[in-house]
Amino acid sequence: MAEWWQSGIVYQVYPRSFADVSGDGIGDLAGIASKLPYLEWLGVDAIWISPVYPSPMADHGYDVSNYVDIHPLFGSVADFDALLRDAHARGLKVILDFVPNHTSSEHPWFLESRSSRDNPKRDWYLWADPRADGAPPNNWLSVFGGPGWTLDESTGQYYCHAFLKEQPDLNWRNPEVRHAMYAAMKFWLDRGVDGFRVDVLWHLIKDATFRDNPKNPDYSPDQTPYNSLLPVYSTDQPEVHEIVREMRALLDRYESRVLIGEVYLPVQRLVTYYGVDQRGAHLPFNFQLITLPWHAERIAAAIGEYEGALPVGAWPNWVLGNHDQPRIASRVGREQARVAAILLLTLRGTPTLYYGDEIGMRDGVIRPDEAEDPQGKNVGLSRDPQRTPMQWSAEPGAGFSTVKPWLPIGLDAERCNVEVERQDERSSLNLYRRLIELRRRESALQLGEYIPLAASGDLLAFIRQDASRRFLVVLNLGHHSHHFPIGDLRGEVVVAADSFRERERVSGSIPVFGEDAFVIALDH
Ligand code: GLC
Repeated sequence: MAEWWQSGIVYQVYPRSFADVSGDGIGDLAGIASKLPYLEWLGVDAIWISPVYPSPMADHGYDVSNYVDIHPLFGSVADFDALLRDAHARGLKVILDFVPNHTSSEHPWFLESRSSRDNPKRDWYLWADPRADGAPPNNWLSVFGGPGWTLDESTGQYYCHAFLKEQPDLNWRNPEVRHAMYAAMKFWLDRGVDGFRVDVLWHLIKDATFRDNPKNPDYSPDQTPYNSLLPVYSTDQPEVHEIVREMRALLDRYESRVLIGEVYLPVQRLVTYYGVDQRGAHLPFNFQLITLPWHAERIAAAIGEYEGALPVGAWPNWVLGNHDQPRIASRVGREQARVAAILLLTLRGTPTLYYGDEIGMRDGVIRPDEAEDPQGKNVGLSRDPQRTPMQWSAEPGAGFSTVKPWLPIGLDAERCNVEVERQDERSSLNLYRRLIELRRRESALQLGEYIPLAASGDLLAFIRQDASRRFLVVLNLGHHSHHFPIGDLRGEVVVAADSFRERERVSGSIPVFGEDAFVIALDH
């Protein structure tokens, strides 16, 4: 019997931007609760909510100042409990974001830690003496620009931070830290959350002697400064797997909970996060559809590499977008985004959708005076465009809020919104809905085998099958028309990027227009 996180579909909610019920221009838990009927209609199985904990919001919630409470901006623990109850009553699972690599610099633990060298919590964070010339202890860099260390003047030592200086890294070698963090996870598990998406899992533990990272010989100036070094001593350390195993063991004490890990690493390293004997993460996020160029042969090779690298019994997953990456409709264009939807929802493995991608939302246009994201301010790669408010309707405020929202509403909200697209058979939203409905109905698409068929030029084709049915998926990742010969196979188009082709009988050689993609139910 498959677990829900294997057969199901995960939908990421960026809470600041989903729905604002309190009327302050920032989304909240009551807003998410008000949209559960929509999510049920769409047919997803689980929502992952980006951080809603108390936070000074230096990194919009990824700087947590209390792991066991809810930020008043979003509501209260009682609101969270109500949301969880309501979601569960509708058969929806709720996954929380957990941010263990760093706390906020305003977390009471850090305030204590920095208060003196002999404070009992000093060793909860990574402190080190300056070098002889006063420089930081080593050459590590912050992902968000500048050195990965900040000097605390009053105690004369540097603390380590992989991200902002307002996000000091915890010392996961300290058993007290582990204990405190597992207690926080337990707090939410006991309330009934269905799992965690663990933030920057591969960063958790650092080289014990803080060795310098080597220079990246392939660095080019169009990359961010962080990429000028290879983070071989500051990330992906062997000891991280012990922590992942401990987190997993905690979840295993509960029924059917899922551990998802955010891991940006090459496939061969990524799959190690499943752990020895798969006692690690259930789903180390697979970001290849985000990181690779949109070329049929590259994507086919990546699917093959991933399928081939998966440990026996490990369950795959695919992600098309998230709050850190430009939206799919902006990366590949609106038409190709429909092809991408068909790919995501027919591949073998749990799909994760990013809110708004189902309506084809594009990256917003943000004026400099509206900028929010610290990464954008520091290294110029702003993530604000992909975080603009969900477009629910053509009303002012796009049905997201009745006041000025924290980020501007997309310029196309009048046409690109849930209300308009629900009524349009050919919309991106209805394409998503038909695909999701098909996937839910067909075990071959949820759990069946993946058999590569062809990848050449713009075309990518594969088969998904189980004992009950066989589906042929044909995708045109380019703009030009082609013929795709299918030999002796024949069948009927069940879902197509262009809905006019649905119910078409196909055999022999299929004409495939530019930007076409379809799922064909093959005859027995
Ligand atoms: C993860 C989050 C990102 C955040 C960073 C630091 O990559 O997805 O939004 O800024 O970690 O917590």
